Amino acid sequence: MPRIYPNAYFEDGIVSIDDAKLSIACSAVLYGLSVYTVFPVIPTAKGPAAFRLNDHFDRLINSAKIIGIDTFETEWTLERFKQAVHDVVEANSPIKESVFVRATVHVNGLVPGTKSKGLATVLSIFLYEAKSIMPVDGARLKVSSWRRVSDTAIPSRAKVNGAYVNSVLGKQDAINSGYDDCIFLNSGGHVAELSAANIFLVRDGILITPDVSSDILEGISRMTVIEIARNLGIPVIERSVDLTELYIADEAFACGTSSGIAFIKEIDGRKIGSMSGIGPITKQLKDRFEKIFSATDHTDGDFAAYMTLV
Ligand SMILES: Cc1ncc(COP(=O)(O)O)c(C=O)c1O
Repeated sequence: MPRIYPNAYFEDGIVSIDDAKLSIACSAVLYGLSVYTVFPVIPTAKGPAAFRLNDHFDRLINSAKIIGIDTFETEWTLERFKQAVHDVVEANSPIKESVFVRATVHVNGLVPGTKSKGLATVLSIFLYEAKSIMPVDGARLKVSSWRRVSDTAIPSRAKVNGAYVNSVLGKQDAINSGYDDCIFLNSGGHVAELSAANIFLVRDGILITPDVSSDILEGISRMTVIEIARNLGIPVIERSVDLTELYIADEAFACGTSSGIAFIKEIDGRKIGSMSGIGPITKQLKDRFEKIFSATDHTDGDFAAYMTLV
């Protein structure tokens, strides 16, 4: 289990994490009616810096909007959110290692029935140790017999807490069968994503990933990998992906905040690619991606493009 930092942001200030409590009668607890995001904060020479803070805030706002939680957008601006992140980071300082910051908007209305509009919300933010959930020596995955929740049921595009029951079903089944994680197919039978990461494959030098209409979360690491690949001159295609394409891929990898870029060595008992370790394109992308998080020089291009001092 990762180490959780002792101070949290809750409602409108800093409290001990043990005092950040929701009522058992609120919609967040009753229906899983909360939306969230997780992003890294890294220590740098000039202080702690958050990865793609604006994009994470936008996704949080959009997740709330999709679900019809209307009070968050009216009460929160990027500036206020940034201040809250600053406050919780400062309350746990000094931050000597990379941490993950989990920010959640909980619907706090008490027994309102199955509604989302006009209800009180509370923002919680806490920090925990940044540890990859994927093995470094290659992930073994299993296609889940559970399908990814459809955009017409609970949209994967919105990062809704309640929808993560779907991820738990898939991941626990995979673990029970001796695998590291699952691959979900969507309701149309095409590849969607892992339980908490997006997926890429490489065929004939082309990077391919399920498009945003494949019932996936629009991952911020995914967006970053696509940008890095295009900058490196690697062709990228976002489109519907068949499972059998994954089986015969030259390389495949998962990407997300909590997995980083993790190469996939086996799917459903089939070895991926011809190499025993990480493939060359995956390695090139992983090295560039990780460079963003090791930057300590504020003149560094990646740092300026992706990091916000908090
Ligand atoms: C279902 C799912 N897909 C993809 C991702 C990757 O998203 P990001 O890169 O924004 O962390 C996550 C991250 O938590 C996720 O839960």
